[in-house]
Amino acid sequence: KEVVLSGIRATGNLHLGNYYGALSKFVKMQNDYDCLFFIADLHALTTNPDPDALHENVKNILAEYLAAGIDPEKATIFVQSDVPEISEMYLLLNMHVGIGELLRTASFKDKARKQLGLGAAGADDDIEKQIIGSDTNKRVNAGLLTYPTLMAVDILIQKAHKVPVGKDQEQHLELTRRFARRFNSFYGVDLFPEPENFNFGDHAVKVPGLDGSGKMGKSEGNCVYLIDEEKVLRKKVMRSVTDEGPKEPNQPISQPVENLLTLMELTSAPEIVQSYRDAYADCSIRYGDMKKQLAEDILKVTTPIRERYHDIRNDEAYISRVVRQGAERARERAAKTLEEVRQVMGIRKF
Ligand code: TYM
Repeated sequence: KEVVLSGIRATGNLHLGNYYGALSKFVKMQNDYDCLFFIADLHALTTNPDPDALHENVKNILAEYLAAGIDPEKATIFVQSDVPEISEMYLLLNMHVGIGELLRTASFKDKARKQLGLGAAGADDDIEKQIIGSDTNKRVNAGLLTYPTLMAVDILIQKAHKVPVGKDQEQHLELTRRFARRFNSFYGVDLFPEPENFNFGDHAVKVPGLDGSGKMGKSEGNCVYLIDEEKVLRKKVMRSVTDEGPKEPNQPISQPVENLLTLMELTSAPEIVQSYRDAYADCSIRYGDMKKQLAEDILKVTTPIRERYHDIRNDEAYISRVVRQGAERARERAAKTLEEVRQVMGIRKF
């Protein structure tokens, strides 16, 4: 069986972007592949580390994995920091990663911009100057720069073939493939497969937020969370951004409305989505109705997850059992790969 591995950072509760980009794929894949799903708690330390919240966040996401339907008997569920082999291999792989390729990574530039308070428009030159300048670099740490190395190690140490992630992670996967190729060819070995994204449709998903602009994201404040209470969820959707309504027949659909239709495409029946597209085209669209429909259809997906979530989250003994068992399995496999890597790199024990 092909190996599947994916993870989610422990930075808060999961939203519809995480669900459609990642978690829903995990649930579907567990029957057909050798699956490992983990919580990236070390990655969560690269921005705004919060020791009081970290462990709670890890438990929340574990409960969300289980509530969404990941079965610990079918898939291995573990926490990244429970597998110290990952940290060792991260050090080793970093010896084959260029600073330049890390500095050019889009997610690094975005996050560095935010940490430096530069805003989306900050020019790349400004970022580099500020990073190299002495006191601001405290806010952009080396862990953030080497984020792609750590992610590549998560994947390579399990020799994964498929890595179900959303569109925003595709550049990281591209780097992982490059590192795998480079390592294999430098040492003349065939240790690592080159992993690919996995989608049920033909393209990677980018779930938009409710604010009419870009993607749904924890730091954007435009999220619908899987565990949002019904009332909260309805209110958020009813307040989502649209436009003033089409002025003439067949005009192109504005970005904010297109975003809501994209969400609908994920949650609602195709005929319903088409009926709203038609209503936009003939200027009869009523956003209130459309939002009500969207909220109902999202709730159909999230309600069962939310209900199971609270029970599971309260059963800490169960959560601990699941991750202890998962850590054991994940470590055993990781230790094998790490030993191969050490051998290949010439690190010998006395
Ligand atoms: P993270 O924690 O930012 O997001 C977890 C997953 O959710 C997806 N996602 C989205 N997909 C579509 N639309 C959105 N609006 C949206 N927002 C989030 C992400 O693509 C991701 O699949 N670097 C990873 C965590 C990670 C990892 C790994 C993943 C660490 N090591 C190894 C796979 C394999 C991350 O930050 O995801």
